[in-house]
Amino acid sequence: MMSFKVLAACGSLASAAVLNPRQATTTSGTSTASATEPWYYQTSPELFAGPTVTGLIAPFLAQTNPAPWGAEASFVANAPLETNLPIKGNTNDQSIFQLHGHLSSYFPNPIGFGSNEYPVPPGTNISAVHLLHRHGSRYPTGTASVPIFGSKIHNLTLNGTANWSGELSFLNTWRYNLGAEILVARGRQELFDSGVLFYYNYGALYNTSTKIIARTTTQDRMLKSAEYFMAGFFGLEYSRNVSLVPIIEQDFFNMNCNNSNNYLSTGGNNASLIWENIYLAKATKRLKALAGGYNWTLADTYNAQSICPYEEVAFGYSQWCDLFTYEEWQGFEYTIDLQFNGNNGFGSPTGRAVGIGYVEELYARLQGHLPNVPPGTTQINTTMVNSTATFPLNQTMYLDFSHDTNIMSIITAFGLKQFAQPLPPTGPPADQQLIVSHTTPFAARMVWEIIHAPQPVKATRPTSANAAASDYYTNGTATTYIHLTISQRTVPLYKSYPQCEERDDGWCELSTILEIWGGLLDQARYDYSCNGMYSPQPAGNITNGVPVSKRDLGLTFGSGLEFHENSDRWVM
Ligand SMILES: *[C@@H]1O[C@H](CO)[C@@H](O)[C@H](O)[C@H]1NC(C)=O
Ligand SMILES: *[C@@H]1O[C@H](CO)[C@@H](O)[C@H](O)[C@H]1NC(C)=O
Ligand SMILES: *[C@@H]1O[C@H](CO)[C@@H](O)[C@H](O)[C@H]1NC(C)=O
Ligand SMILES: *[C@@H]1O[C@H](CO)[C@@H](O)[C@H](O)[C@H]1NC(C)=O
Ligand SMILES: *[C@@H]1O[C@H](CO)[C@@H](O)[C@H](O)[C@H]1NC(C)=O
Ligand SMILES: *[C@@H]1O[C@H](CO)[C@@H](O)[C@H](O)[C@H]1NC(C)=O
Ligand SMILES: *[C@@H]1O[C@H](CO)[C@@H](O)[C@H](O)[C@H]1NC(C)=O
Ligand SMILES: *[C@@H]1O[C@H](CO)[C@@H](O)[C@H](O)[C@H]1NC(C)=O
Ligand SMILES: *[C@@H]1O[C@H](CO)[C@@H](O)[C@H](O)[C@H]1NC(C)=O
Ligand SMILES: *[C@@H]1O[C@H](CO)[C@@H](O)[C@H](O)[C@H]1NC(C)=O
Ligand SMILES: *[C@@H]1O[C@H](CO)[C@@H](O)[C@H](O)[C@H]1NC(C)=O
Ligand SMILES: *[C@@H]1O[C@H](CO)[C@@H](O)[C@H](O)[C@H]1NC(C)=O
Repeated sequence: MMSFKVLAACGSLASAAVLNPRQATTTSGTSTASATEPWYYQTSPELFAGPTVTGLIAPFLAQTNPAPWGAEASFVANAPLETNLPIKGNTNDQSIFQLHGHLSSYFPNPIGFGSNEYPVPPGTNISAVHLLHRHGSRYPTGTASVPIFGSKIHNLTLNGTANWSGELSFLNTWRYNLGAEILVARGRQELFDSGVLFYYNYGALYNTSTKIIARTTTQDRMLKSAEYFMAGFFGLEYSRNVSLVPIIEQDFFNMNCNNSNNYLSTGGNNASLIWENIYLAKATKRLKALAGGYNWTLADTYNAQSICPYEEVAFGYSQWCDLFTYEEWQGFEYTIDLQFNGNNGFGSPTGRAVGIGYVEELYARLQGHLPNVPPGTTQINTTMVNSTATFPLNQTMYLDFSHDTNIMSIITAFGLKQFAQPLPPTGPPADQQLIVSHTTPFAARMVWEIIHAPQPVKATRPTSANAAASDYYTNGTATTYIHLTISQRTVPLYKSYPQCEERDDGWCELSTILEIWGGLLDQARYDYSCNGMYSPQPAGNITNGVPVSKRDLGLTFGSGLEFHENSDRWVM
């Protein structure tokens, strides 16, 4: 199974420890601590970079790519990945690489979130933009199961247990060659491209005579994702335009939500396992027949499927990908949806708690002040948000970088209940709303725009048939709206917040949003969610990102702990 351990600091993007100033060196873009640059802007040399394992081989698609497949097939050039695979059952020519959940290389959401896109009417201005960005395509994390699977396959081949045949013949010479944790070349491209795109969309919001603050974490892929983005937006000399604040991401630093790292928050994995047993039964039989003497298991099949997206982004092509049918790839996407929903989203008892830090930061920013949350109510380390030297304020453009699981929790903590639909472990529901490859693929982006209109903008926008009609109600006054996009598509806010007007454009009045957001901190129930003692729930019982009941005393913990009524904490 995949691991979704939530690392320190990433949920809030707002904690850090004191670093030692280092000697200045000069490189383009990067900042070093010096007499003029304080420690919290240091990006080089890197601190707390985490594991940085490079791959064992370099890609060589020109030699390894079997495309085009057969004399009949027309040629589609790789750009840079090979995505033109012949997949059984793919009648619509849809790309299986967009069915890889959080392991899909970035693509704009192809179906939207239930709203069409509308222009900003003449006379209306976008005054600020808040971006939350995921890092780009990477190798498997250190806790992923694929490296062990890779080693096992190699051993089975070497020690003669397995005699691979048919479509698995390639395993007789296959080696696991992936690195760990760090960005692959595709990941660098995704962030650079995203910076370029963001420049075209929002460049005018950057005041060229200011230096803004942007935040990421110290982990190598996080820091570099931010840097590639800045290079795309500003150019290589971006350190003239932005001070990057890398927040320490390392075990034992900063605040952690305990229950998000234990069995209470693995409901998604449990649900996924049930679904894997269903949709992978046929594939397991098929592959087992090609494994010679080796007893190929269902877990092997899931690992085999999981290697495909990793090899794809690392090497441009993977022999594991076309072992599976289109329907099996749809099944794979759904395992990730189940995992994110149950481990990190509305189906998790810690969903809201982990994400509430960023929510409170944005709420504070929109009101023009520093976050002012009581200690122990978020993952925010208050030291790092206590000063405008490290907390961005009064900017027109905000750039923050985070992780997939945290962005899922942030969506939950915002109470975007459109994505709270329960996901049955027996198979996808009709009109499924949470599709992870559409919300948090590699290089995912969540963007809030603040929009000032001279008068209220009509909830029903004029159509082309009555294009001459005004976009405005003429009976109202100046109105400020907020507009959310994820993966470049509008998230209609009224679907999550009944207080918001049902609008074609999905916008909501800012004053309404601020009223709603004022209640989110309490709803997250951080301390109980993260430190409380409650029993794990079967899939479907949790639908609001918090534990089901305040004092669920169906306890299963061992001795040595006592329940402390007032604090909802177990004390050793
Ligand atoms: C918060 O950050 C400060 C400064 O970076 C650090 O010294 C402190 O250990 C952090 N707090 C916690 C609870 O980890
Ligand atoms: C593969 O074999 C090596 C060498 O014997 C061993 O260290 C490793 O643990 C094996 N891997 C697995 C997954 O069994
Ligand atoms: C062959 O390697 C596999 C995977 O490491 C291991 O489980 C198995 O025991 C080994 N068999 C022999 C005969 O060494
Ligand atoms: C492996 O399988 C092939 C074909 O299935 C067979 O011809 C060969 O004898 C087998 N080798 C071993 C070592 O079992
Ligand atoms: C840009 O920033 C400078 C320096 O802070 C300020 O004087 C100027 O008014 C700003 N320009 C705009 C258009 O906001
Ligand atoms: C970055 O800052 C420099 C120096 O202040 C300025 O000339 C340049 O226009 C800025 N870059 C962008 C993309 O605005
Ligand atoms: C193969 O593995 C399955 C479980 O995955 C087990 O039920 C079965 O007994 C095993 N077969 C043999 C021959 O070991
Ligand atoms: C934040 O700053 C205020 C005023 O500077 C100070 O009173 C407070 O103790 C600080 N809080 C933390 C957690 O550093
Ligand atoms: C930010 O803007 C608000 C409102 O315009 C103002 O009250 C506040 O002093 C500003 N803060 C900083 C740090 O500039
Ligand atoms: C939009 O910006 C223009 C130019 O700065 C300004 O004249 C106008 O008043 C603004 N409109 C609104 C609704 O803020
Ligand atoms: C303005 O007119 C619209 C459409 O007729 C109506 O829905 C809205 O309530 C009116 N607003 C005010 C402030 O009168
Ligand atoms: C899950 O919810 C159902 C229906 O509300 C309830 O009967 C059941 O007790 C809950 N499960 C647990 C473990 O609390």
